[in-house]
Amino acid sequence: MKKGKKLYEGKAKIIYSTSDKNLIIQYFKDDATAFNNIKKSTIEGKGVLNNRISEHILNNLSQIGIKNHLVKRLNMREQIIKLVEIIPIEFIVRNVATGSITKRLGIEDGTVLDQPLLEFCLKDDKLNDPIIAEEHILAFGWATKKELEKVKKMILRINDFMIGMFRGVGIKLIDFKLEFGRLKTDGKTEVILADEISPDTCRLWDTITDKKLDKDRFRKDLGDLIPAYTEVAKRLGILHEQSNVSAVNVTKLRPLKKRK
Ligand code: TMP
Ligand code: ASP
Repeated sequence: MKKGKKLYEGKAKIIYSTSDKNLIIQYFKDDATAFNNIKKSTIEGKGVLNNRISEHILNNLSQIGIKNHLVKRLNMREQIIKLVEIIPIEFIVRNVATGSITKRLGIEDGTVLDQPLLEFCLKDDKLNDPIIAEEHILAFGWATKKELEKVKKMILRINDFMIGMFRGVGIKLIDFKLEFGRLKTDGKTEVILADEISPDTCRLWDTITDKKLDKDRFRKDLGDLIPAYTEVAKRLGILHEQSNVSAVNVTKLRPLKKRK
């Protein structure tokens, strides 16, 4: 498979065409942004870790029947993915209230929600990704009723699975963001999971200490982002326990077999 030209550059990833019109390459950058690009930095090794963590989670989701765009990881920073038409909605799932919802609605930080709360944001940087209602999605045709029903079912299964997966390694899944896309094959269209699932797109707290192991380390200037992402990768069995946490070492790590 040949890598073609750059099709799109986002805040954390670059998309390239390939010699197969149905497949594209997703490249994970080290760039970190927050508050819609107001805060920016480059954190060496972040892209490598997100590539591996997202690969691990999406492969596990495939195994429980959640169809997604990942074909295979190519190397430390790139994966081959299926070309989909992204639904322009960020689906935010919350198990514990923190972040924007605490400010928007005055909810106390850390409030455990009785059931997962799903929020919809329009994917539009110029408008600051505004929160919208399901009715807006239908009224403006961003997704159909049928697509939304399917996506909501998938989201609940993804949340259940991920809560369990992270709980098993001593991590609380606080909230996360998902994106979905339309895959066209033989004239049929199917909605599948797309984008990435990583500490950039989830809030992950250590079960015992509540230590933040996600992009809030960057958003809130807590420092030590690479050690935190490395800790997530190690606990998921992607990296060796002995691996040194420095970014330089992370970029040199070889693919390893799953820990038993
Ligand atoms: P929020 O509390 O800032 O709304 O974020 C909720 C979750 O969604 C959190 O896990 C971070 C993730 N997220 C993204 O992945 N991308 C985004 O652009 C935003 C705003 C949040
Ligand atoms: N990804 C978003 C941005 O760049 C926001 C975030 O993750 O906090 O601004």
